[in-house]
Amino acid sequence: MTLHTIQTTQLDIPPGMIHLGIGQPDPSLLPLALIKDAAEHRLSHDDASLLAYGAELGDGYFRRALANLLTEHYHKPVDADDLFVTAGASQGIDLICTLFTKPGDTIFVEEPSYFLALNIFRDHGLNIIGLPMDEDGLVVEALEENLTQHHPAFLYTIPTFHNPASITLSAPRRERLVQLGQEHNLLIVADEVYHLLAYDTTPPEPLANYTDAGTIFSIGSFSKILAPGLRLGWIQANQDLLRRLVKSGLLESGGGLNPFTSKLVQSALELGLQLDHLNNLKTVYGKRMSFLSDALRRHLGSSASFSEPNGGFFIWLRLPEQIDAEALLSEARQHNVGFQPGIKFSSRQNHKNYIRLCFSFYDTPELETAAGRLADVLGNH
Ligand SMILES: Cc1ncc(COP(=O)(O)O)c(C=O)c1O
Repeated sequence: MTLHTIQTTQLDIPPGMIHLGIGQPDPSLLPLALIKDAAEHRLSHDDASLLAYGAELGDGYFRRALANLLTEHYHKPVDADDLFVTAGASQGIDLICTLFTKPGDTIFVEEPSYFLALNIFRDHGLNIIGLPMDEDGLVVEALEENLTQHHPAFLYTIPTFHNPASITLSAPRRERLVQLGQEHNLLIVADEVYHLLAYDTTPPEPLANYTDAGTIFSIGSFSKILAPGLRLGWIQANQDLLRRLVKSGLLESGGGLNPFTSKLVQSALELGLQLDHLNNLKTVYGKRMSFLSDALRRHLGSSASFSEPNGGFFIWLRLPEQIDAEALLSEARQHNVGFQPGIKFSSRQNHKNYIRLCFSFYDTPELETAAGRLADVLGNH
């Protein structure tokens, strides 16, 4: 990888390439006008305290505004004191690893799982065991079986609109998972960053609604519902668990995470701007998902299969068994189309014949072109 001296965003896409591997909002969906309005509102208060070190849990007024948003979407009252402000979901996951694991510990993940979380776990020297999923999400019987042989520091799960598989854990399995957590004193790190991105259905209750059990961290992020550059997220948990985070060296030294940005986002929440934006995102992503699904069916026919997700960013495409998606990458590059090969999401080199396609970064004309290019690549095999 080259380290560019002057690079503004994380992305560096070759000209002409349509890279469906990118799991980010497209630049036209980044709400600059909204942030300007929120900043103007916040700065007009002439309150210099937003430039001070922040309260360790996160600003109380921001947490109250966030609690109101979550209460509406989770259909259950959320207590602002059960919320801890992070600098994004990734940072929250990293902090949990720092405080609740030591190198060599075992953790459970789903197979497949979010590839960049796997990298965070590898940074912490953790031994990663992948547990199977089916169309109802994590197979809880397999979890139970594995708990007889291992004592994991935690289970990392993405219960709703999974990355990459776009699967949602069924309601009965959520109940069973929570029970197992209590029976085995298993810490559950539920990455629920897509829960609020349901296009027009209501997913089963988030694991956030079970945090009273005392074994669950529910992770959320403004990256998916406002803008990733804000680096703002939260962890919902019971107050005993949150105390461990607040008492970390990181927080004691630097104070609460991202206090300035959270005050701007407080304005976006209180003025209703964030909700309008979220509603727009849901409409846009829902349309793109339907469009890409149609285009894939037209262009790829029966050579690929997938289920249409009801939310989130991804289509998890299954290719014929003999195809190694990673080996297709250089050919795909020549056809100016990109994707994430399934093997990246595996803790044990599985899912070789899967690819993850993301529809958040491109509008329908590019999605159409990309589906055609993918068909050209696959047509040669
Ligand atoms: C499941 C999952 N967790 C976490 C993240 C990263 O979130 P953040 O930008 O808040 O660090 C992503 C982004 O792709 C994701 O898909």
